Order: sequence, then structure tokens, then C-alpha cells
Amino acid sequence: MKIGINKIGFYTPHMYIDTEDLAIARGVEPGKFKIGIGQDKMAVVPKTQDAVTLAANAALSILDQEDIDAIDYVIFATESGIDHSKAAGVYVHQLLGLNEYCRSIEVKQACYSGTAAIQIAKGHIALNPDSKVLVLSSDISRYGLNTGGEITQGAGAVAMLITRDPKVMVIEDQSVYKTEDVMDFWRPLYSEEAFVHGKLSVIQYIKLFQDLFTAYKEKNQVTLAAFDGLLFHMPYTKMGLKALKSILENESEQEQERLIKQFNIGKYYNEIVGNIYTGSLYLNLISLLEQDTELKAGARLGLFSYGSGSVGEFFTGILQKNYRDHLFTEQHQQMLQAREKISVEQYEKVFMDTIPNGIGNIEFDISNDPAPICFAGIKDHMRQYINKEQ
Ligand code: HMG
Repeated sequence: MKIGINKIGFYTPHMYIDTEDLAIARGVEPGKFKIGIGQDKMAVVPKTQDAVTLAANAALSILDQEDIDAIDYVIFATESGIDHSKAAGVYVHQLLGLNEYCRSIEVKQACYSGTAAIQIAKGHIALNPDSKVLVLSSDISRYGLNTGGEITQGAGAVAMLITRDPKVMVIEDQSVYKTEDVMDFWRPLYSEEAFVHGKLSVIQYIKLFQDLFTAYKEKNQVTLAAFDGLLFHMPYTKMGLKALKSILENESEQEQERLIKQFNIGKYYNEIVGNIYTGSLYLNLISLLEQDTELKAGARLGLFSYGSGSVGEFFTGILQKNYRDHLFTEQHQQMLQAREKISVEQYEKVFMDTIPNGIGNIEFDISNDPAPICFAGIKDHMRQYINKEQ
């Protein structure tokens, strides 16, 4: 049975900062952020959005009534969870008015968990061929003001509808994966911000990529030529480029040119949104599919998923006939064009405007947030969400 991505869309908040402004404010040469890190803009999230609303907004933009009635599994991948017990998927299930005979869960392993969610969905559909599974990857990346990781922040969510006979991309069964216990990045329960050993994280990412890519080629008896494109978990675009270049050293000039040219086309959405953790690899996929006019149906794409801590997986997908007709390109471009650029001072104010820990009652003004689904406050320790379209 062919199983894969039937629909795919993303949501990112309505505000961003230019990384040149951030560089100037931090006394850094702008070339470091623009070229050295490879980020152009960074999404800034208002307190009226959280991992639940980002995901719900992403899903709302791609689902129709038929999907809403048919989805029987919501798998929510995040490392920005809002509750130690209740799955974020349950909130989204209610906000979207999904069929009540549905499982809703949350999965975690840093940025890798979106891929884990897809693999769980594949297994479920193999047993229940008529099922539609909603996979959500949603996160807010926070390292703190004036930190080394600040330039690699971002916020957003990717929603994917996984079904049999998918219209966009079949996910092939061949896959290699690996776990190595490394403290490169983590976020203890008491902290709003991630802890990171930046240099170690870059080394570990490249090591797992090289290891898994070699293992995949050996297991399936293929060479680099078997891939029409390579996609990466993209904490910042230079990270993906570094990984790509690390396997091109002994390749022909033509192969190097082919893959680097394509990488540069595909990195666009990641470059202007920032790190969205679990959704980042899939944002790279959306970006390539929507930006690369030369990609053809039948193309085989290799995908590298990495989650600090660390777990990695390398797997492949085949683009389906007329896949372009099933993308949400115009919708995404409109969303990105409508974003508002804010100053570094405004960003710092938004960043510091967090909810005091343990607060049981609070109300937010959601009138300035153009998103259809917002986080409106907390009542008796219960988060209040509003779908303005319901
Ligand atoms: P840093 O120390 O600020 O940067 O840390 P640097 O000194 O390494 O410089 C970065 C690049 O800018 C270098 O290029 C410089 O040469 C260049 P490279 O050697 O890398 O090719 N540069 C310039 N280029 C042009 N013009 C200039 C200029 N100046 C310098 N004027 C670091 C960077 C990424 C480590 C830091 O931002 C950080 O710690 N970020 C967070 C961690 C991270 O994103 N790690 C990525 C791998 S781990 C991962 O992907 C998992 C993750 O998503 C979490 C999860 O799984 O949940 C993070």
C-alpha cells in the first residue's frame, strides 16, 4: 500500500524581525547572521499564540469538511508542550471540530518527533487503510535575549494529512534511524528557554547525518545520483548547507552544483521564518515543493530528520503525479506577505511579556492577532482557546 502526505501546510505568526536589525542591536556584523548563519528574518510569536494555536491554525488552513469527518488520529509532535498530562492534540481536536471517534496524542523527542509521528501514522494506516491521520509539528524556539542561540529562534507549525494513495508524496518504507545519548540541547521542566552546547550540537547533527546517509546508501545499494533532492532539519539554513556540503566533497562538480542550486531554492521559507523545531524539516519540504519549478512528479527526495539529545532518521519520498495542484502555495505566500516587521525593541518587549508561572486566571486581548485561532487566557488554571471562525 502507498502511504504518505496527502496535504501539507504551515502557519507562522504575523510578526517578524529582520536579522540585520538584530545584528546591529547585538553589536554583530550583519554578514554573520545573514550569511554565516543564513537567516534573513525571524518569526516573533505574540502571547496569544502557543504550540496548540499555531498547530490548529496550520491545520485549519488545509483541511476540508471531508477530512474533518474522516480523521481518526491526531498525532501532535512538539517540544513546547503546554501541559505535562493532557495532550495538545486533544485541544486541537476540539478547536477543529474533528470526528469524536478519534485518538489524540502528543509525542516528543526534540525536533525529531514530527518524523516519529509520521512513522506512527504510516503504521496506523497500514492496519486501517481508510484512515486519515493528522500529524502536527508545532513549536516556539526560545533561547533568550542576547544569547548565542538567539539568532536561531523562530515559531510556527506544519500540518500534514497522512493517507493511503497520497496526492503529494509517498513516503517509502526504506528508512534508517539511530539514537545516541548526547547533551547537545535540552530544556529542563523548570525552564522556558532551551539549554544548548551550540558547537557540540552542530558536530552531532553532521555526524548523525553522515552516518545515516551512508547507512541508507549501503542498505539500499544506491548512490547520491538516486536522489533528486535532499531536505534537512533546518535550525538555521547554514546548518543544512554544512551537512549537504559534508557529503559532496568527493562528488563531481555537476553533482555539487545540482544539489547546492536546489538547496538554495528550497531553503527560502526556513530562511524567513527561523527554527520551528519539529516542523523545520517539513517546512523545508513545503518550501522546496512550492519554490522549485523544475521538480517533477516521480522525483525521489531524501529527508534527514534530527532531534537533539539525539535521534536521527534518513528516509525518502516520491513526488506524485500533479502534486503541485495539491499544494497551498498562494495561501502561504499571502500569509508571509501580510506579516508585519517589528523593531528589536518591540521584539524584546514581546519576548519578555510571558505569563507568570502558576497564574490561574488571566485574560488576553486577541483583537490585534489576525490568526483565526488564538490563546485567549487562563481561567481556573485551564487554558482558553478561541476559534474566531466557529
Ligand atoms: P556562534 O558561536 O554564534 O557562531 O554559534 P560562529 O562563530 O560559529 O559563526 C557562525 C558562522 O558565521 C561561521 O561560519 C562564521 O565563519 C560565520 P561556519 O564556520 O559555520 O561556516 N561568520 C560570518 N559569515 C559572514 N560574514 C561575517 C561573519 N562572521 C562570522 N561577518 C550557533 C552559532 C549555531 C552554534 C548558535 O547560534 C547556537 O548555539 N544555536 C542553537 C543551536 C543550534 O541551532 N544547533 C544546530 C544543530 S542542533 C539541532 O539542529 C537541533 C535543534 O533544532 C533542537 C532540537 O532538536 O530540538 C537546535
